[in-house]
Amino acid sequence: MVQAKTWVLVKYFDGFPKNSDFELKVEELPEPKDGEVLLETVFLSVDPYMRPFSKFRMKEGDVMIGGQVAKVIQSKNPAFPVGSHVVGRHGWRTHTVCDGSQLEPVLADWPQDLPLSLALGAIGMPGLTALYGIEEVLGLKKGETLLVNAASGAVGSVVGQIAKIKGCKVVGSAGSEAKVAFLKELGFDEVFNYKTVGSLEDALRKASPEGYDCFFENVGGYFSSVAIEQMKEFGRIAVCGSISVYNDSTPQTGPYPQFNMNMKQLKMEGFMQSRWEYKHQESLKRLMAWVREGKIKYRETVTKGFENMPAAFMGMLRGENIGKAVIAV
Ligand SMILES: NC(=O)c1ccc[n+]([C@@H]2O[C@H](COP(=O)([O-])OP(=O)(O)OC[C@H]3O[C@@H](n4cnc5c(N)ncnc54)[C@H](OP(=O)(O)O)[C@@H]3O)[C@@H](O)[C@H]2O)c1
Repeated sequence: MVQAKTWVLVKYFDGFPKNSDFELKVEELPEPKDGEVLLETVFLSVDPYMRPFSKFRMKEGDVMIGGQVAKVIQSKNPAFPVGSHVVGRHGWRTHTVCDGSQLEPVLADWPQDLPLSLALGAIGMPGLTALYGIEEVLGLKKGETLLVNAASGAVGSVVGQIAKIKGCKVVGSAGSEAKVAFLKELGFDEVFNYKTVGSLEDALRKASPEGYDCFFENVGGYFSSVAIEQMKEFGRIAVCGSISVYNDSTPQTGPYPQFNMNMKQLKMEGFMQSRWEYKHQESLKRLMAWVREGKIKYRETVTKGFENMPAAFMGMLRGENIGKAVIAV
């Protein structure tokens, strides 16, 4: 009989998450039946979406939602042989018994020298988000100027690098000097620390005096209001996320974007990467090729130990990660 450790959401978050919102529990798992597998989690992901989704996709007492890379350790499903690795969405747990319906095998021919945790990052959901935001939503063209915020994170760091592959000027903002240095290493053209610039407005204007064709929006709130004023006419905005409001108990209020959107004739579209699920496999292969060619570089902030998942999650929400935040179980 295998025991699974799980992290449960005891109580809906109220404001910024705290340790007492989570509880570590142990579950006895049944033997896998025909068609099922037993998985042992190798890497777990902590992502910003878990904060807002906890409210409308979960009940109090549920295991925290989330994705993992896991190894098949028992199999009664020939599609998932023992020893193979899969990406699943079973939440914060060390072991899982499931049928194969929600599992994706890790890309075939995964190179020995690439960590499997990238299947949760640059060659996984965040990488796909960057790619779809740029190609499907923004339709970014060579020679254009793109702005991305939360630029040193899992999504933002890939956004900037894909925009460079496409021959664009890239401006990124991030919340520490170490993050700024990382973005320069990645080849971003202009980078600034939004926490220390005296004026966000001046920093954006200095980075691109002629304004922005495209804005890949990860943050929302005040940053968004200031950036929208500096879009070029007919600029496009892909709303990927709004992490600056996820922990608010009371909604932030204006300034509101309609005036600038109207005067500059802007286009703003929100999106979820799952809209293009039908092309994930082909897209993951493109991301893998860019990583292998060195055109997409990656950084990970790895927390060791399943016990430290809540700390890693809260740390990511506080901005402690550079690149993708993952947990090595
Ligand atoms: N639409 C989709 O399908 C989809 C998929 C994945 C992710 N997303 C969204 O994409 C965004 C980035 O996600 P990610 O996985 O790449 O996370 P991430 O950037 O790796 O980590 C979160 C980062 O957000 C920044 N941040 C936190 N609080 C902030 C605040 N109040 N103001 C400004 N920045 C803040 C921090 O960096 P700094 O130190 O730079 O502040 C932190 O490191 C999130 O909004 C997320 O919800 C959307």
